[in-house]
Parts: sequence; structure tokens; C-alpha cells
Amino acid sequence: MTGPAERVETEFAETFGGKPEGRWWAPGRVNLIGEHTDYNDGFVLPLALEQGVAAAARPVDRPVLRVRSVQQEGTVELALAEIAPDTVSGWSAYVAGVAWALREAGHDVPGLEVVVDGDIPAGAGLSSSAALECAVAVAWNDLAGLDLSRDDLAAAAQRAENDVVGAPTGGMDQMASLHGRSGHAVFLDMRSLRAEQVPFDPPAAGLTLLVIDTRAPHAHVDGEYAERRRSCTQAAEILGVPALRDVSLDGLDDALARLGDGAEGDLLRMRVRHVVTENARVLDVVGALRSGDDPRVIGPALTASHASMRDDFEITVPEVDTAVAAALEAGAHGARMTGGGFGGCVLALVEADAVEAVLRAVEAAYEKAGFRAPSTFVATASDGARKL
Ligand code: GLA
Repeated sequence: MTGPAERVETEFAETFGGKPEGRWWAPGRVNLIGEHTDYNDGFVLPLALEQGVAAAARPVDRPVLRVRSVQQEGTVELALAEIAPDTVSGWSAYVAGVAWALREAGHDVPGLEVVVDGDIPAGAGLSSSAALECAVAVAWNDLAGLDLSRDDLAAAAQRAENDVVGAPTGGMDQMASLHGRSGHAVFLDMRSLRAEQVPFDPPAAGLTLLVIDTRAPHAHVDGEYAERRRSCTQAAEILGVPALRDVSLDGLDDALARLGDGAEGDLLRMRVRHVVTENARVLDVVGALRSGDDPRVIGPALTASHASMRDDFEITVPEVDTAVAAALEAGAHGARMTGGGFGGCVLALVEADAVEAVLRAVEAAYEKAGFRAPSTFVATASDGARKL
């Protein structure tokens, strides 16, 4: 079977002629737990997926970027010096944005011919955009001999997304794509940017981490994401802390009491409660995995995370709530929406021999509700971005 890694090589020859100097790969991610905590300087626990983006690249003498995506029409050509937040748009902005961010950080990046392709379902909240940025970032890093650390590459990829593409996301996705490790989840402290690979190997315990792509149409994603971010910043300002990370679970009641009266205070209380309890749940899950506990014990934390996103952060939609409820009813140890919200994927931790029953239950619930059939796959914790 040919995958993206083979296709980029063939397509490179057809588009630019000859061979690329190398091929690079960066994975998408699924977040085990810790949602909307990254931009609050908090904790997250994603894992890098088997699915990702491949890039075949070759430096060129002239300071230009020529980029082709197997999934799009035509080749985009841009002068490196002219790439800026307001001069690029569309899918190529993710690639051009990385060149801009590296140059902004003072690095000399050569012109590049690059072909990209991936196998992450688009728009499913599995970070296909971060994978694209990171695949190109590691390619440029190697080809230009920049010798940047994984954290520096993640920072450049995030800047590409924030400043050039214009999506105000936190840094979890890029860090997960760069720090992933097979058989592990990546525990990230998004303040210190410390990354720790924590053993997480469901198959070894007779379990399966199922990902259910609800295929719910993403509506209002960008606006709602930015609005949640603003509420968190506003609450932190009222509480006089640098970020909501600084509100502890013990101090939560006291903090909630200081968020003002009326509807606005009530809204901020819900948002803060989600972030503070979610950070605590990440730490609990990390503690259990670090000490080698049976992974089944993390199930209730996953489900509590979902309830918090549904009731307090208000980022779920009927499709994801239905999938979570059906999976739990059919025996999943825990289930939750993963990613930014308003659609996307649900993950469920299930006994390997219960996978079929869970899938059937979700499908039946979808049919009953009149939703489009979901698609599913098994998540396998995989290595981070690398040269192939
Ligand atoms: C999106 C963003 C991440 C993170 C999640 C929510 O995936 O890209 O930075 O904020 O949403 O946890």
C-alpha cells in the first residue's frame, strides 16, 4: 500500500524533477486529557499518532519556496523575503509561516522545493495543521543545518499558526508532534515547556484506545475558541494571577467567589472551574501512569473531563455527547471529546474484546439520532517528527 511517505517522493519527481534531498515525517496527535489548559500555562497529556504528514524536500539556490500538496491543485511559489502574516493565505500559509517564523527568530533558511501529503482526517481535531508545520520545520532544520531543539522548532511552528495562519491556538499540538514517543503519552507543562514521556501502552494491558471521528460539521470553531481564550485571560486578570494555571484546586472555591456577580461572573466561574479541575485531572492521570498503575484506572478522569467540557466549558456538540454516552454505556472505562471542540473526535478506552460492541453501540445511537455515521480508528502512541 502506498502512503504519504511514498507519494511525496513520486510527486516530487513529477513536480520538480529528480529526487528530493530527503523525506521527513511529523505525526498528528490525540489528546488523552488536558483540554484548553495549554494556553492557560497548564498541563496536557497528548500522544503522537501513527497518522501524520510527510514532506519531501530539496534546497534550491534562489530564496524562494515552491510547495505542492498532493491534496491540492497546483504549486505555490513565494519569494522567502516577501512571506509575512498579511501576504500569504490558504493551505500554503502553514508551510510559508514556518519559513517566516524561522527567519523572524534570526535563522538563515534556504529556498526550498517541497511536496507534502498526509493521512490525518482533515478537520477532525487531530492536528493535521501542526503535523504539516512540524514536518516542514524539521526538514528546514536539517537542510539548513540549524541544529534547533525540538522546543525551538515547536515554537516556530506555533508562531506560523498564530501569526501567519492567524489561529490563536496554544502550543500543545506542535509540542506533541515533536516530542511523541512510541508506547508513551507526552506530559507537557505548558509554562516551563518541560516534556516528559510517560508510559502509556493500552494494548499491553489488553485495552484499545479508540478514536471516533464524529464528523460533526465544525461550526463557529475559530470564534468560539478565541472567545474561551478571552474568558480565561479575563478571569486571570480579575484574580490577579499570570494565568489560570496559578489557581489551585484547593484555592478554587475562593477564586470562584471573587469572579463577580451576575451572568458574566457565572460564565467566568464555569470556565475557571473547567480549567482548574482539568489541570488537576491531568496530574492525577500522569501520577497513575508514572507509577505503572493499570491504565483502566484513568477511565473516570477521562469521563469527568468530558462532563467538564460539556457543562462548564461548553465546547461539546450533540454528536460528541452522544458518542461518549453510547461508548460508556457499552462498557468503555472512560470516554471524552478530544481537541478544541465543537465537533471533532471522541476517544474511548475500552477492553480490546469490547471494541466491536462499543462501535455498534455508537453507530446505533447515531442512527437513532439521525447523525451521519462516524468513522473510527485505533490510536497508537507513536514517535515524534523525524527524518525518514
Ligand atoms: C486546539 C489547539 C490546542 C489546544 C486544544 C484544546 O487543538 O490547537 O492548542 O488549545 O485545541 O485543548
